[in-house]
Amino acid sequence: MAEAPDVASLIGTVPFFSGLGEKKRRAIAGQGKELSYKAGDSIVDEGSMGVGFYLIMDGKAEVRKGSRVLATLGRGQFFGEMSLIDEQPRSADVVAVSPTKCWALSSWAFDSIVKSNPDIALVMLKEMVKRLRAAQSSFTS
Ligand code: CMP
Repeated sequence: MAEAPDVASLIGTVPFFSGLGEKKRRAIAGQGKELSYKAGDSIVDEGSMGVGFYLIMDGKAEVRKGSRVLATLGRGQFFGEMSLIDEQPRSADVVAVSPTKCWALSSWAFDSIVKSNPDIALVMLKEMVKRLRAAQSSFTS
């Protein structure tokens, strides 16, 4: 894929992939595609079946449940992993709140990359635990 080297260096700058060498990043970069959204565009809809995993390369997106904002995610952060992991509908809406560029992976590419790169699985688990703790503290405060 012609644009793969550019994406490879870009994904190398975000924590999610920073533990991987150049060769691996290049191979992984070719498996995803870049998607652009305008402010206000819906990226993921609560209740729909998930087919993609998203890494934010630029911009900002809000994770929303009804009128409640659960989190604001920016460059280097990911979303869409929950539906791919448990094969259940999307747990929340994710909406671009500024012009946003994502790098997206299909569910099968996500599975195969996570299975063959334990470092990525660990980074993702740590972030998911952080989100769970933040959600717990919002229940008690
Ligand atoms: P998924 O359920 O596939 O689609 C909606 C996504 O929003 C979800 O995966 C997570 O990536 C993200 N998400 C859901 N709840 C939270 C939360 N409390 N904090 C941050 N991100 C969340």
